[in-house]
Order: sequence, then C-alpha cells, then structure tokens
Amino acid sequence: MSTSRAAIPAQLGTPIGVFDSGIGGLSILRALRALMPNEDYVYYADTAYAPYGEREEVFVMERAQALTRELVERLHIKALVVACNTATAAAIAQLRAQWPGLTIVGVEPALKPAAALSRTKRVGVLATRGTLSSEKFSLLKASLEGQGQGQADFVLQPCDGLAAAIEAGDSRRSDALLAQYIGALGPLGWHEGQIDTLVLGCTHYAFAMDAVQRIAGPQVRVLETGEPVARHTQRLLGDAGLLQPRADGGAMHLRCSGSPAMLEALRAATKRWIP
Ligand code: DGL
Repeated sequence: MSTSRAAIPAQLGTPIGVFDSGIGGLSILRALRALMPNEDYVYYADTAYAPYGEREEVFVMERAQALTRELVERLHIKALVVACNTATAAAIAQLRAQWPGLTIVGVEPALKPAAALSRTKRVGVLATRGTLSSEKFSLLKASLEGQGQGQADFVLQPCDGLAAAIEAGDSRRSDALLAQYIGALGPLGWHEGQIDTLVLGCTHYAFAMDAVQRIAGPQVRVLETGEPVARHTQRLLGDAGLLQPRADGGAMHLRCSGSPAMLEALRAATKRWIP
C-alpha cells in the first residue's frame, strides 16, 4: 500500500508530528491542540497496517521507524508524539536512539496516577495485547505494584478487536467487546477488593469513554492520557525553546498510509473529534 502523497500545505512550518495506527491518536492530538492551539501539527495514521495491537513487536517497531523517518525527512517536524501505547512500548527506545536530536514523547497507560487515586488499591487496565506483553509495560507495572503509598494491584485485560471496532465506528461491536472485557476484570466498585479505577491503555479507547463509564458504572473512575501527555509535551518544547511564538492559530495536516477512502475517513473522524 502506498503512502499518501497529498501536497504539504505551505503554511505548515515546522510542525509537531503525531502518529498512531489509526484514529486513536486523535485523542492525544485533541489535547495537544487544546493546550497549544498555535502549533502546527501533522497527524499520520498508519491505517494500511492497523491495528498494531495484535502484531509482532518487531513489525510495530519497523512501522514506527518508517513513519518517523517520513515525518522527519519529508515533513521536517520539530518534535514527535508517538500517540500510541503499543508503538511506544515497542519502539520508543529505538526511535530515541535513532533520532537523538529530536524531542520525542511517548504515551503509556496511566498506572501511576491510577495507583495514586485508587482507594481500594485495585486498578483495572484495558490495553492491547502488544502493550500488556511488552517489557516496558512489565517494568512500569512492577515499579508500582504492591502495598504502600502510590502502589496498587493491577488487573490486566487485553482487548483484542476493540481498537479495530472503534476505528471502524462500529459501536455495537465495541460496546459488546467492552461489556465482555470489563466484565472479565472482576467486581467493580468502591468496597475493599473491588476495582475502583480503570485505565484506558490504548489511545483508541478514549473515543469509547462514555461506553466504558456506562458499563463500568458511575462509582468507577476512568483515566485516559491525552491531557497529561499534552502538558508533558508543552514542558519539553518549552525547555528546548521550541514553542511556537506566533499567536494566530496553527495548521493541521493529515496523512495516512492507507487508501484515499481511509484518508477521507480520517478527515471525517478529525472533524468529529477535534473542534
Ligand atoms: N491506539 C493504539 C494504542 O494506543 C493502537 C491500537 C491498535 O492499533 O491496536 O495502543
């Protein structure tokens, strides 16, 4: 499948590059734009190769490298946000080693805030199989697991097929999968032994937030990562002197590795989710 060669708009200066397997990373782009509306952005959806979550780690790593190369060499990005938990887990270390001068931000499931916020100290994690089986995730979990302040027990649930259903806009299927996966976590609630906090460990799942909350119930706190990632990105850009000084609103450019119909679907999703 060929990469979309849509012309690069002239007003796109040195943008922030953001990528995901599909529309999921739009939940991160939405938070970035809300916090830094004057920046230029290029969003790259790797729809020809989505979903990533059930692929081999080496495949996801190679896709992340290919997308980063294109964003750096053709679109001249000043910073990269890997708006995908699966790709962050598989590739962020290699990307940082390969592009040492580039500011690179990744996303990871919000285990730390969840452990701090949970009262029952029992946290459910919904994520892709790739993320949950990665070494990066295991290390994060091990650092926060157990008794004590800021620690918790984590119940992990791989959600095969969920990102694909959300990507396809198939809410009947995504609701059914969510009911199955949330049901498999065990008892939810604020009593001892129950899960009172749920982590959405895949950027696609943020677009199913309402369904998650409805299925899990009002007593469960649901966390996604858009806002903290945006704040972290702003901090890094500020430290590197890379924040856009202009104050007249930034440009946004969409690309995708899939068919023209997929690019159209991405445009429609962007219109829907990013005001
Ligand atoms: N949105 C991605 C993530 O955060 C990947 C979903 C997928 O492609 O399976 O993990």
